[in-house]
Amino acid sequence: MKFTTYIKASVVASFLVSGAAIAGPEAEVLHWWTSGGEAKSVAVLQQEFADNGGTWTDMPVAGGGGDAAMTALRARVLSGNAPTAVQLKGPAIQEWYEEGVLADISAVAEAQNWAGLLPASIAGHMMCEGTWCAAPVNVHRIDWIWANASVLEANGITMPTTWDEFNAAADKLAAAGITPLAHGGQAWQDATVFEAVALGIGGADFFRKAFVELDEATLTSDTMVAVFDQMRKMRGYVDDNFSGRDWNLATAMVMNGEAGFQIMGDWAKGEFLAAGKVPGEDFLCQSTPGDGFLYNVDSFAMFAVDGDDKQAGQALLAELIMGQNFQKVFNLNKGSIPARIDVSLDEFDICAHISSADMAASNEGGSLLPSYAHGMALRGAQSGAITDVVTAHFNSDMSSADAVAQLAAAVKNSM
Ligand code: BGC
Repeated sequence: MKFTTYIKASVVASFLVSGAAIAGPEAEVLHWWTSGGEAKSVAVLQQEFADNGGTWTDMPVAGGGGDAAMTALRARVLSGNAPTAVQLKGPAIQEWYEEGVLADISAVAEAQNWAGLLPASIAGHMMCEGTWCAAPVNVHRIDWIWANASVLEANGITMPTTWDEFNAAADKLAAAGITPLAHGGQAWQDATVFEAVALGIGGADFFRKAFVELDEATLTSDTMVAVFDQMRKMRGYVDDNFSGRDWNLATAMVMNGEAGFQIMGDWAKGEFLAAGKVPGEDFLCQSTPGDGFLYNVDSFAMFAVDGDDKQAGQALLAELIMGQNFQKVFNLNKGSIPARIDVSLDEFDICAHISSADMAASNEGGSLLPSYAHGMALRGAQSGAITDVVTAHFNSDMSSADAVAQLAAAVKNSM
């Protein structure tokens, strides 16, 4: 029997026994998918939930990267009124589990054989002490560079494959009066650019030692100084109005030719696509210079709540999220690739194919790495400490030497 049928049957039975009116599965869903491409993507889940008899209460909290959403979540949990389902990822899942507030969704996971459908690296993030505590929707890649195809062509620029090439291209664009780098001055966007630069300049082992293992010698190394040197250059490539700008407005600058490049995860592709832009024609995608793959897996955790209707809503949502068709349609809109390994990429574009091939190759070669900037590598206190320094450096004239010293000190204090 299909799990949906099972859930529906059990919910209906319980309502009949109690003599109450049949309500059906319910979910209040907290997420931060509010841009054009993001809203189109979450609407796919909303629709599937409704098609299966569910009632969805939307709780969108605007703010790229999810910082505002996580603040809203904490307030709700502290007031004893957790939402039923929450966009949550990386070690934050285990942090909430340790607080004893997550629901166990193992029954759905086992009925659908998630262990056989997910790569081990992704499955690991969804588990809490041997139980399933989150459901993954996708794999986003962070280390991408997006470009306006005609701006590059008009200026005789090809996609850069080294940071020196990137700097030369950026200088050329600046001389032509075009903003080289579309960027929004928000801490998480600074961190996004920083980790792509760090992977490119330092390589996979450097990245792992610095941002997964928090190795002090690596954090204070000459290589880290070189990373901050490149960040200083990046600061020179943004326009005067970058402070506070949302990431999708930065993407729009690339779309309309105001800027040449953006370094951003592939939710930016969702934005290009939602605006009707075509990869390879209107915009170009390429991994940022260097080897490796920074992954960011969006997932939903269910919070422990009372009520058959809500619990049925959680089970239904978990089941739908891992559905084969949902993983295809959602990711076609979102810019990411499916988390499930058995979803055909036939309908996906060139950027998704590059992502999938590079992910497999990086997995083989040991350079498949969790994004620190998007909460996949570290606990909140540690990633926050790093980002504070990255942002302080980006928004001041702090030297690279001072930045690495502050980085090591901030990490130490956060432990
Ligand atoms: C999330 C994406 C989202 C992006 C911008 C990332 O942390 O993983 O799903 O589109 O932030 O809000």
